[in-house]
Amino acid sequence: MNEGRKIDRREFVQGLGVQVLGALGLSEWTWRRAAAQAATAPLRQLAAEKGLVFGSSLALKYFLQSTAYQQLFVSQCDIATPELHMKWDSLSSQPGVYNFGNADRFVAFCDANRMRVRGHTLVWHDALPAWLASQLTVANGQAIMTEHIHTVAGHFAGKLYSWDVVNEVLDPASRRPDGLRNTLWLENCGVDYLERAFRATAAADPVALLVWNENYLELSNGFGAAKRAAMLNLLDGMLARGVPIHGIGLEAHLRADQATVLGDASYEAFLGELARRGMKIFVTELDVQDVTLPADAGARDQAVAQIYSRFLSATLRQPAVRGIVTWGLADSFSWIAGYRPRTDGLPVRPLPFDANFQPKAAYYAIAATLQSAPRRG
Ligand code: XIL
Repeated sequence: MNEGRKIDRREFVQGLGVQVLGALGLSEWTWRRAAAQAATAPLRQLAAEKGLVFGSSLALKYFLQSTAYQQLFVSQCDIATPELHMKWDSLSSQPGVYNFGNADRFVAFCDANRMRVRGHTLVWHDALPAWLASQLTVANGQAIMTEHIHTVAGHFAGKLYSWDVVNEVLDPASRRPDGLRNTLWLENCGVDYLERAFRATAAADPVALLVWNENYLELSNGFGAAKRAAMLNLLDGMLARGVPIHGIGLEAHLRADQATVLGDASYEAFLGELARRGMKIFVTELDVQDVTLPADAGARDQAVAQIYSRFLSATLRQPAVRGIVTWGLADSFSWIAGYRPRTDGLPVRPLPFDANFQPKAAYYAIAATLQSAPRRG
């Protein structure tokens, strides 16, 4: 399906593109992709035209492997999330001792390239230093959590666009009526640990947008519905108590085999519920797992692109959505290679650019979706 590329650029300029494509019987999807292809603008620019930010996660080590990737990153992004550098286990290998070297270098790189930074993440059950689990008790849990927040959010105060204050705190599989995930934070800090975390972050950094980042809210199935209901319920309680929560992060690690439960009316209604509560909404970790898709790269790229298109067009219809962040920009630097590898051993293709940093169908899908998105005020 490369028909779009064969169309002479001048035909678009002369306004004949639609007719040519129409005569070839191509889908509206291919037409929109071809139109985006004619416009070679970087994603951050297409996003900015609609009042949105666009960016990606990044680990600085990727730039040591490829300066071309650094160029791609700078050209496409106006916001970035540290994939690793601000997680607790990256910052502190011994109790109470912090090394901000890499995280500071990350912020300096973003500053130098006029990119905003999404702080990620203060309170999570994963990526914790080995020493922590054996030290945490019910007696010291709250103090350890808030001390960490004061140290880390205090260190970066005034420099970050937002903080993912809490991360992945809901899990229907924990079978609790409130929907919270059973974690060492819940056990040792009590059910109000979310609230404490937001208040502590606001005290340490009064400027950053404070975000609750969560996975699988995108899924319009029983699991996703349970997470959505739990979030709205907990959010109502916290907002009524004046807890400073400004935004919701939708991770959006999407799966090709779940295409049918993405981007439907119930999802859009959920985004509406968040907006009604005054939340700014961000897509924070977008990628598409291709493990169930055919081996053929062209077919795979089309299927992945259609999922980007379907999910993002539903998402961007909601004006409270302010930004899109993918979890990596190019297939060669994706966590999916380790997390959900293909069983046939072929390299995964979950991101908008390929391993040679060339735009794929997913890139054109994102570009076209941004171009047809309503403008934010
Ligand atoms: C992932 C990183 O991409 C991996 O390199 C690391 O090994 C594990 O964490 N949800 C999150 C992210 O909030 O921080 C995770 O990042 C992916 C899932």
